[in-house]
Amino acid sequence: MENTAGTGDRAGCRLWGEATTLYERVCRPAIRILDNLMIHFIRQLLSAAFGEKRVDCWLGAVDCIFHRQPTTGFGGPLNGSRARLNAFEELKRLCSFNAVVETGTYRGESTLFFADAGCPVYSSEVNPRYLGYAQLRLWARSNVHFCLGDSRQFLRRLIQDSTVPKDRVFFYLDAHWHDDLPLREEVDLIFRHWTRPVVMIDDFQVPDDSGYQFDDYGGGKKLSLEYLNPIAHLGFIPFFPALPSSEEVGLKRGWVVLAGDGFSIDQLRAVAQLREWRQHNG
Ligand SMILES: C[S@@+](CC[C@H](N)C(=O)[O-])C[C@H]1O[C@@H](n2cnc3c(N)ncnc32)[C@H](O)[C@@H]1O
Repeated sequence: MENTAGTGDRAGCRLWGEATTLYERVCRPAIRILDNLMIHFIRQLLSAAFGEKRVDCWLGAVDCIFHRQPTTGFGGPLNGSRARLNAFEELKRLCSFNAVVETGTYRGESTLFFADAGCPVYSSEVNPRYLGYAQLRLWARSNVHFCLGDSRQFLRRLIQDSTVPKDRVFFYLDAHWHDDLPLREEVDLIFRHWTRPVVMIDDFQVPDDSGYQFDDYGGGKKLSLEYLNPIAHLGFIPFFPALPSSEEVGLKRGWVVLAGDGFSIDQLRAVAQLREWRQHNG
């Protein structure tokens, strides 16, 4: 009797094992494929009705609701650099900016910080999913205006828009992630169309401090003074972090602040976190 029962148990176990294997190897992948097909189909339908970019924006908003990306991975606004955050606060106090313009919103980490500056904030992002995330994250901030698209088109749109301030505007240029580096054109547009602009560039080489990291996309597309040389005639002066990288915290990304008019240069000289790059002038 016992033996028969034991054989029955073993047979039952084997059957259960085989059924589980069948489910794992055949049914589960089939369900996953069906799921993906269904998502693809729904996405196609929605894209046909509302446009692909709109649907991506919604997906970004869903990411935001479900906290699928709880951190941006950049250590906080302005890469979590205390010196840079203080420099902005000091610049804001001295220059009384009429607006802040950011290129490269990503998930709106720095946009959220700028939103407290007490002036309109304009931010552009080329990736609709990131933009959707940032838009939902900052939905209650009525002074923040987002734009989907390339940063150069965005700046041209701002230039055309008579409601956008054109004097004493702070720019935070952070739209660099891809081979197509818009930075030189961004700086060119800014210094040709705004008066008294102050421009902060993230991920920029600090010439005499190799402890600060910077972006280099190859083929001359290195975020450095050499890269800006072709537009040096615009007359901007670079200011680098006064704090040595050895004392910086967080990601230690390099940065630079540019200004070209007498008023802004004088204000930058009064900011303790900045040091003027005199060698640039020979
Ligand atoms: C380093 S992240 C920006 C981080 C963000 N400023 C912050 O402080 O959290 C760079 C972003 O720029 C975007 N980007 C890259 N090229 C762009 C372009 N030409 N125009 C607008 N956005 C661009 C990328 O999609 C990415 O989201």
